Amino acid sequence: MRNKNKIPANHNKSNLRLLGANMSVNPLLEIDEKRRVYQNGDLSIEITCLHSKDLPAETLAAMVDLTEETMKEHYEKSEYGWNRKSKEKEFKHDTARILLAKDASNGKLLAFVHYRFELDDEEKFPVVYCYEIQMPKSVQGKGLGRYLMDTLLDIGVRFKMNKVMITCFKHNTDAFKFYEKLGYGLDICTPSKCGLEKTYEIMNLKIRAGTQAS
Ligand SMILES: CC(C)(COP(=O)(O)OP(=O)(O)OC[C@H]1O[C@@H](n2cnc3c(N)ncnc32)[C@H](O)[C@@H]1OP(=O)(O)O)[C@@H](O)C(=O)NCCC(=O)NCCS
Repeated sequence: MRNKNKIPANHNKSNLRLLGANMSVNPLLEIDEKRRVYQNGDLSIEITCLHSKDLPAETLAAMVDLTEETMKEHYEKSEYGWNRKSKEKEFKHDTARILLAKDASNGKLLAFVHYRFELDDEEKFPVVYCYEIQMPKSVQGKGLGRYLMDTLLDIGVRFKMNKVMITCFKHNTDAFKFYEKLGYGLDICTPSKCGLEKTYEIMNLKIRAGTQAS
C-alpha cells in the first residue's frame, strides 16, 4: 500500500538511478545467490522475482487471497476500506515487482513481497518502496519476513537507492513492531510528522555507504 502513485519525469541524478533500476529485467538475479533459497527447520522455500506483467493469473489470485486473509480487517479499520479489485490493480501496476516465496517441495505460494522502485514522497531520492509483504499465520515467526525484507535491502543497495520504505497501519501493531525490530523508523513525510491524523505511518530504513543486510 502507498498513498501516492506518480513518478515525475524530470531527469536529475535521482531519476537516472530510478530509471536504471526500473530497467533491470530481474533485480533478484543481480544480488547474492543466497537470496534465492530460504531454509529454516521445516521451511524450505524458493524465492523468485517477477515483473507484474509476467504474473500468471493463478498467482495473482493467490496473492489477493492471501492479502485478504491477513489484511482485510486492517483495511476495514482504515480510511481505505477493503477492495479486492483495487488490490489486484495495484499488483498489476506497470512498475510493480513481486518476490514470490514458494514451498520448494510443491510450489505452493507461501509468501510474497510487492515492491517498486520509486521516488520518495519529497520526490528527491530513489527508494525501494515495499507496498506489501504477506504470509499466512502458519509461516509467520520463522524468520521469513526478516529474510524477505533483507532481500529488498540488498536490492536497494545494489541499485543505489537511498532508503527502503513501507507504509504500515498503526493498528497493525505486530507489523509495526516487526519493522521497528528490523531498524525501521518514521519517515520525515509520515502523516504524524506533518500534523495529519491518519491510520497509517510511513517508515524507512536508510541505506548508507556500507549498509548490509544480515
Ligand atoms: C509482519 C510479517 C511480515 C513479519 O514476518 P515474520 O516472518 O512473521 O517475522 P520474522 O519471524 O522474520 O521476525 C523478524 C524479527 O521481528 C521480530 N518480530 C516479529 N513480529 C514481532 C512482534 N509482533 N513483536 C515484536 N517483535 C516481532 C521477531 O522476533 C524477529 O526478531 P529476531 O530476528 O531478532 O529474532 C508477517 O508476520 C506477516 O506477513 N504478517 C501478516 C501480514 C502483515 O501484517 N504484513 C505487513 C503489512 S504492513
